Amino acid sequence: MCGIVGVVGKPAREVVLNGLKNLEYRGYDSAGIYLNDLQGHEYLTKAVGRIANLEEKLAPEEEGTTGIGHTRWATHGHPTVENAHPQYSEDGRFYLVHNGVIENYLELKEKYLAGAHFKSETDTEVVVQLVAKLAKEENLDAFSAFKQALKLVKGSYAFLLVDNTKPDHIYIAKNKSPMMLGLGDGFNIIASDAISVLDQTKTFIALNDGDCADVTKDSIEIQDCDGNKAEREAKVLDIDPNAASKGTYEFYMLKEIDEQPAVMRRLSTDYLDEAGKPVVDEKIIDAVSQADRIYIFAAGTSYHAGLVGKEIFEKFTGIPTEVGYASEAGYHFPMMSKHPFFIFLTQSGETADSRVVLTEANKRGIPSLTMTNVEGSTLSREATYTMLLNAGPEIAVASTKAYTAQVALQAILAKAVGEKLGDQAAKDWNLKQGLSLAAEGIQEIVDGKEKIEELAKKYLIPSRNAFYIGRGIDHAVSLESALKLKEVSYIQTEGFAAAELKHGTISLIEDGTPVIALINDPVTADLTRGNIQEVASRGANVITIVGKQFAKEGDNIVLPEIDYYLSALLSVVPTQLLAYFASKNKGLDVDKPRNLAKSVTVE
Ligand code: G6P
Repeated sequence: MCGIVGVVGKPAREVVLNGLKNLEYRGYDSAGIYLNDLQGHEYLTKAVGRIANLEEKLAPEEEGTTGIGHTRWATHGHPTVENAHPQYSEDGRFYLVHNGVIENYLELKEKYLAGAHFKSETDTEVVVQLVAKLAKEENLDAFSAFKQALKLVKGSYAFLLVDNTKPDHIYIAKNKSPMMLGLGDGFNIIASDAISVLDQTKTFIALNDGDCADVTKDSIEIQDCDGNKAEREAKVLDIDPNAASKGTYEFYMLKEIDEQPAVMRRLSTDYLDEAGKPVVDEKIIDAVSQADRIYIFAAGTSYHAGLVGKEIFEKFTGIPTEVGYASEAGYHFPMMSKHPFFIFLTQSGETADSRVVLTEANKRGIPSLTMTNVEGSTLSREATYTMLLNAGPEIAVASTKAYTAQVALQAILAKAVGEKLGDQAAKDWNLKQGLSLAAEGIQEIVDGKEKIEELAKKYLIPSRNAFYIGRGIDHAVSLESALKLKEVSYIQTEGFAAAELKHGTISLIEDGTPVIALINDPVTADLTRGNIQEVASRGANVITIVGKQFAKEGDNIVLPEIDYYLSALLSVVPTQLLAYFASKNKGLDVDKPRNLAKSVTVE
């Protein structure tokens, strides 16, 4: 989603542009940069579309030692140059970039800015105009006017503000949207994601909600809106900047699919000892063991990983488990059991929808765990406990390795909790071997990707729509597989419980409609075969993805044998590849599908 990079104290143009490019994967539809050289020259340039368009518009002399840049994913107003950030005040003094959503912008506009002229449709412009008005009418310096304005603003934000009468400062504020302050030698840098500026520094301060700061090249003052000073600890982040590079791959998505065997091995090493005993914080095991019900909340792909997790938790811990869309639960909080435990699955750790639920859980004193790929992310900081996915940066918008990591990590936690509760199935479960088989199995599947590309070309690319069907865990995987295909290839795809298709949706099956059937559930394998017949006899082109132990002649993709409860780790991989190849062969931007964002920080 929107990205922010700001720098003070060194030539800013390249630093800001490179930082924004590193955030491109998150999704955006316009970009802008403001530069001030402290010698009386300032430059504001904005463009619709890619950062390359912005670069083309920048004149050679446009440089400055203070710079703020932004990639915008449109919420209030279309993706136009006028609506792109930085937004500026009518008097031309203040420049502002913003991630988040200001909920009361219309009210602020009516109440305080009746006579002002607005150039954009954005909520952000209201804030910058408000700062300018307060500075002028109450004769306040920029930081004071900014803090004053923030007291009136309701919503989520990461703001960077520059006052061109004092351009060696960047003023920042954070509430609910991520913001990292990077410390350099003779300069400071601010970014919505540390990963974007790792070539500049590895030392960062993570700001808390409610923090404001006045940053120059060699000073940082953090306060709240009332001017109370705050100390925040700086940490050196242990992220390998190369892990986020594409290497020889054309697209990140394929690189990340291919990395899954390594992710499985890493999780096994990090969370299981030599003997296969889970190495999980005892406090987490105790907390989950005491729960009478587990509630998993997530969005998108992570939600689908939660559906698999439910099956695993119930089987190996005996604790009833519910899975909910965070976006729904936030405002329609489910009825709670007496001793609930919440698990948040979130690759980014920043999803606004999930955070709403966590905030409510914290208010109610419900213990929680965030499983995330991003150390120090908001949901990880705010939950009672965190377990890291250790999957390495995932750049492609369509999530692949984070999904399999989430499934595997839930399995590890389920085994740990089940063992603690004395569950025999959990004790007997050789997860170490299971994850090792998963790693080998995924490797085998990705090594045979040419065949999957052929299937994508033959059956998916010519079609407007497609279906995935499966039962049990295969149903959960069919939902994820359908999401993957539609998000990157734009082929309308739905996932179905195999037997449900005949209760209505089978009316959509025509000659040539691709139906991809997943068969890994020992209990229902034969029944799903029956469902395949139903669609095949109505003209569907059926592709089967079948565990070796259930395979029959004519099956298209046969998966190496694995425990049913880990079957998602294998069965999802051909579906990721089908999506990838459908997208690539349609000539689409696989890593950055239209309209999507990687980290969705608005509700
Ligand atoms: C966005 C992304 C999805 C992702 C979802 C949840 O919609 O495009 O790929 O699954 O957010 O994100 P999270 O970071 O919470 O897992």
